[in-house]
Amino acid sequence: MKHQNPKSTKKFSLDLPNIIPAVIVFVALGGALAYGFIQISKLTKSIDSLAAETSENTARLSQDIVVLRAQNTGLSELLSDTRQNVEAVNTKVGGVEETVGSISGTVGTLQKLSQIDPELLKKYSKVFFMNENYVPVHLTEIPSDNIYSLSRAEQFLTEAWPFLKKMLDTAKSNGITLYVKSAYRSFGEQQSLKSSYTVIYGAGTANSFSADQGYSEHQLGTTVDLITIGLGGQLGGFDSTKAYQWLVDNAYRYGFVLSYPKGNSYYVYEPWHWRFIGVKLATFLHNEKRNFYDVDQREIDEYLVNIFD
Ligand code: DAL
Ligand code: ZN
Repeated sequence: MKHQNPKSTKKFSLDLPNIIPAVIVFVALGGALAYGFIQISKLTKSIDSLAAETSENTARLSQDIVVLRAQNTGLSELLSDTRQNVEAVNTKVGGVEETVGSISGTVGTLQKLSQIDPELLKKYSKVFFMNENYVPVHLTEIPSDNIYSLSRAEQFLTEAWPFLKKMLDTAKSNGITLYVKSAYRSFGEQQSLKSSYTVIYGAGTANSFSADQGYSEHQLGTTVDLITIGLGGQLGGFDSTKAYQWLVDNAYRYGFVLSYPKGNSYYVYEPWHWRFIGVKLATFLHNEKRNFYDVDQREIDEYLVNIFD
């Protein structure tokens, strides 16, 4: 009997119990891998789809931004136009207000002017003429304390009297004595006076110091001949007194000017004859060193509205 080798039989047989677990592991791994691939593939698709969606949204948003920017620019332009319109309206309103203000100012000035006698700043003294009917609207009797001679009452324009009174009172408080020798003279009174001077001195001499009726500033009621003590009641010599010097330095502050200074072309030098023309005009003439009769009448008339200021 032939002896059989048991080892050689074993060499060609499968060891199943050992292989099965390996196969199971292999199959499981393969399954897991396949599952993994499937999931990754799904994820990749999702990511691609998300990316596409995001890109679409981004594009839409960009378009929206462009539209919004355009709308914003439009709104800014509209706002700017509106602002410009508001400014233009404000400018027009301001202009209208200015015009209304200027018109009401003009109306106020005209109203004020309508209540002031236009004769008060006219150049009389051979230039303008007042007829026999011209009498100042309001006349005030000058208190006797301020009058040199009590032989006749003296009157002055009521509206200008406070200025004369202030001037006389201030002079007095500065130790200067001033009296009114002659103030308002009517047409008739001037006529009588001139006639008597003509009889006494002759027409030539009388004309050099006395106005014809209708041409005297005294008829306006705003003019005074002033005198001081120590002259024996005479007007001559008045310019060498301290009273005269005080007037030269201060009369303009009360609205008075010397009508006939040295060298004037109307009458002889009359240092005693002072006319009220208002503080504004008198101050202007004082500062400019000009005389009333050397200024153009149109320039003088501009001060009429302020004569009693
Ligand atoms: N003495 C002046 C000029 C007059 O008579 O009014
Ligand atoms: Zn006079």
